[in-house]
Amino acid sequence: MLETRLTKLLKIKYPIIQGAMAWIADSSLASSVSNAGGLGVIAGANAPVEKVREEIRKTKMLTDKPFAVNIMLMSENAEELARVVVEEKVPVVTTGAGNPGKYIPMWKAAGIKVIPVVPSVALAVRMERAGADAVITEGTEAGGHIGEITTLCLLPQVKDSVNIPVIAAGGIGDGRGLSACLMLGAEGVQIGTRFLVAHECNVHENYKQKVIASKDIDTSVTGRPTGHPVRSIRNKLTRRFQELEKSCEAIESFEELGRGALARAAVQGDVEYGSVMAGQIAGLVSKEQSCREIIDEIIQEAYRTLREITLKYMR
Ligand SMILES: Cc1cc2nc3c(=O)[nH]c(=O)nc-3n(C[C@H](O)[C@H](O)[C@H](O)COP(=O)(O)O)c2cc1C
Repeated sequence: MLETRLTKLLKIKYPIIQGAMAWIADSSLASSVSNAGGLGVIAGANAPVEKVREEIRKTKMLTDKPFAVNIMLMSENAEELARVVVEEKVPVVTTGAGNPGKYIPMWKAAGIKVIPVVPSVALAVRMERAGADAVITEGTEAGGHIGEITTLCLLPQVKDSVNIPVIAAGGIGDGRGLSACLMLGAEGVQIGTRFLVAHECNVHENYKQKVIASKDIDTSVTGRPTGHPVRSIRNKLTRRFQELEKSCEAIESFEELGRGALARAAVQGDVEYGSVMAGQIAGLVSKEQSCREIIDEIIQEAYRTLREITLKYMR
């Protein structure tokens, strides 16, 4: 047990949430994380709504533990998915890319726990006022769509600004990362990149190998001119994006290049011309493991780290 307000709120054993990952986080990954004591999350992203409903139902067959569905608010399906999670009695919703304020009353009335991802103190405060149960602060180290502030700076500032539990995301890959976030005031962590290489993660094997092979400096951020920057592992696609940035091409050229790029890597395995979204912590990820092994290892290392630091420095 590692008990925090988050574990009590969500009725989970460990304060670890698996990050939603578009095209990747399905019932297999979500149920395996939930069965291992964390909170598994199904990615709604741009998937057809009926496909997400099917994944929710599969997850319920694979685990009797709590799980979440993530709704990307900029997706076309967001409105419809917001209703599906109520119909399917999903216990927890996480949201990305925006302000879910208009859906919160409906979700709360249905007894759903609501946890938005926030890139700033201002949005965290608004979410608390709107009735969110917790917030996830996502640092710029994270894989996928990112904000500007690092986890180290964002987390304590959000912690000081809200009373609800704060969950740290971005750059956490092991028990040292979990302990550090607890020290900074987090009551849980959300991890994406490390779960990419879980046995139960159905991303293409080429994608997993690209994450495992990558080192500390191998990710880069592209798409800043569009207002939706993305962190992914450097390849021919990121180089092409950088050329567009240098030549100040129109936004449409970025959109065209980015269209379908994550699916190209995650589903088809094209890790040169597809978008291999992953965080800066990818350099720490060295092998494929089961979700249970990943979670147990992180928890054991966190216990050890917290104990050792106390013994070493406290007199
Ligand atoms: C491939 C990939 C896809 C992602 N897709 C989503 C998504 O659909 N919705 C969302 O809220 N966050 C998404 N994220 C962010 C993760 O949920 C999580 O917050 C992030 O990966 C945490 O940082 P880390 O990569 O350093 O562990 C994605 C991240 C990755 C790596």
